Amino acid sequence: MKSRIIGTGSYTPEKVLTNYDLEKIVDTNHDWIVTRTGIEERHIAAEGEFTSDLAAIAAKRALDAAGLSAEEIDLIVVGTITGDYPWPATACVVQAKLGAKNAYAYDVSAACSGFLFALANADDYLIAGRGKKALVIGAETFSRSLDWTDRNTCVLFGDGAGAVVLEAQDGDAGVLASHLHTDGNHIELLYQPGFGAVYPASAEGLEKRLPYLKMQGNEVYKFAVRMMTEVSKAVLKEQGFRCADVDLFIPHQANIRILEATAKRLKLTDDQCFINVQKYGNTSAATIPIAIDEAQREGRLKEGNLLLLAAFGGGFTWGGTLVRW
Ligand code: ACO
Repeated sequence: MKSRIIGTGSYTPEKVLTNYDLEKIVDTNHDWIVTRTGIEERHIAAEGEFTSDLAAIAAKRALDAAGLSAEEIDLIVVGTITGDYPWPATACVVQAKLGAKNAYAYDVSAACSGFLFALANADDYLIAGRGKKALVIGAETFSRSLDWTDRNTCVLFGDGAGAVVLEAQDGDAGVLASHLHTDGNHIELLYQPGFGAVYPASAEGLEKRLPYLKMQGNEVYKFAVRMMTEVSKAVLKEQGFRCADVDLFIPHQANIRILEATAKRLKLTDDQCFINVQKYGNTSAATIPIAIDEAQREGRLKEGNLLLLAAFGGGFTWGGTLVRW
């Protein structure tokens, strides 16, 4: 028995913010952003458009692709760190928007690794026989958690959502293995300090820009490349595969230099790697499911293909997942 992906969907907001648009907001330029990150544009949620809206559209598209109604879903897990509210979970809002009245729903907070953590949760649930069908979603509106006066961070992120429908099926296709990791000793290298229990809401905190993402990019870069490489090797080795066996590598799309450095260490060719960071920037937990959906719609995923997914994010959290398509 395996958890097989039987439908994919994604959604990015209509509004596109190019690097040239950013030049008018902060002291930056298109060439710097492209050279350092590979990002050319990103999508930004409209006023009144929230993470749950993006998630629900992506999920509906995945359900349509699977030929299922929302009522047939038993579980919804949403990977997000930019949810509609501090609580309750955005997954609850998505459940209501979809009318998935037979599903229970919760969020997973694992930053950019959120989708892989959520996927592993749903896989465990299906393999344990507790349900038959699950929706796994990665969704973010990072535009609302960015300090738009900080050029070090605001150029890197975008909004979007991706979703997959998982079904417990007999056969060889489905999730083969997931390796998940956390190292909580480096919180301050990548986090949103406020407003939570440590820094509750205050005017002073707002002045210090506490409710926005803070990052030490150089340090994050080194960890990301090392951990995504190590976890990819480990999950392949456990399942008896080599890098050459991978048909498509879909890494978390943080920036092109992290992706290229990781692919190089894994000795993967360009043809083995899926890259779309130029169009969306870093959409955190949404990058991998958006990429899976694009790869599927572009015909790059054939039955029997071996798919390697790898992510790294705040926490730090990281993971590697192997899927037989
Ligand atoms: N435009 C122009 N100049 C800029 C910008 C900008 N947007 N941002 C920073 N600079 C300047 C800096 O101020 C610095 O100037 P200085 O030398 O006068 O001080 C100079 O560019 C170089 O800055 P660095 O931080 O050293 O640049 P670096 O080459 O490290 O690139 C980057 C920065 C792109 C953030 C890189 O560190 C990186 O990719 N880190 C990974 C971070 C990441 O992707 N995080 C996402 C979340 S985690 C994840 O998803 C894996």
